[in-house]
Amino acid sequence: MRMACNASTVTFLTVAPFFCKFNEHFNSLNVFICLDNRRPKDWRPKHHRPKTIDYFSTMKTFLIGFMGSGKSTAGKALAAEKGVPFIDSDSWIETQTGKTIPQIFSEEGEAHFRSLEKAFVAQLDNKPAVVACGGGLPCFNNLANELKRLGEVIYLRANPSTLILNLEKDQTERPLLKGLDTKELEQTIAAKLTEREPFYLQADKYIQTDNKTIKQVVEEILAL
Ligand code: S3P
Repeated sequence: MRMACNASTVTFLTVAPFFCKFNEHFNSLNVFICLDNRRPKDWRPKHHRPKTIDYFSTMKTFLIGFMGSGKSTAGKALAAEKGVPFIDSDSWIETQTGKTIPQIFSEEGEAHFRSLEKAFVAQLDNKPAVVACGGGLPCFNNLANELKRLGEVIYLRANPSTLILNLEKDQTERPLLKGLDTKELEQTIAAKLTEREPFYLQADKYIQTDNKTIKQVVEEILAL
């Protein structure tokens, strides 16, 4: 069926994008982009604009941080709060490969797993979402920079003692920590944190999550 298109419709379609006050929660922006095929002007005052001029960069929120820092749990709650989809890099990889993360590590090795994380980032679209990234993702293949190009990156920072508490519960699902006793777990976390923190600290913002509930973490992220 063809849509009747009179002069006022054409005027509306032409003019509307220029009056569209963009903000990151304004999902119908995509509609305007499709109709207009040009980028609308950024109406926000300069100090409220994101760090790059790419509108799409405002549309994804990436949560990064060490294993056990609560990225997935906080990510789901944050996505629900923002009313956007939640994406988890590990789940995407498991769906794509039909294998679990421990299986991929044991059958194909860590290097292959890192290439899958790279493929995950490469296929991300420009729609709004909250993305929980596997703990090592920003530390390989220049992905810390790539994430920053694609959106806002938030580091969920936790002290080793908090990480140990969280990781002791479900250590078996994590190939890099499998079979370690408490002492070895402490040493591995300390060593890996030292190695990884420079990558994590490239995030746009970070919040300290120790002793905070998920609700508090989400509220802090929203207030950043
Ligand atoms: C990893 C973290 C894991 C998972 C894989 C490797 C890492 O994700 O991607 O086991 O290198 O830190 P979580 O951070 O969600 O545990």
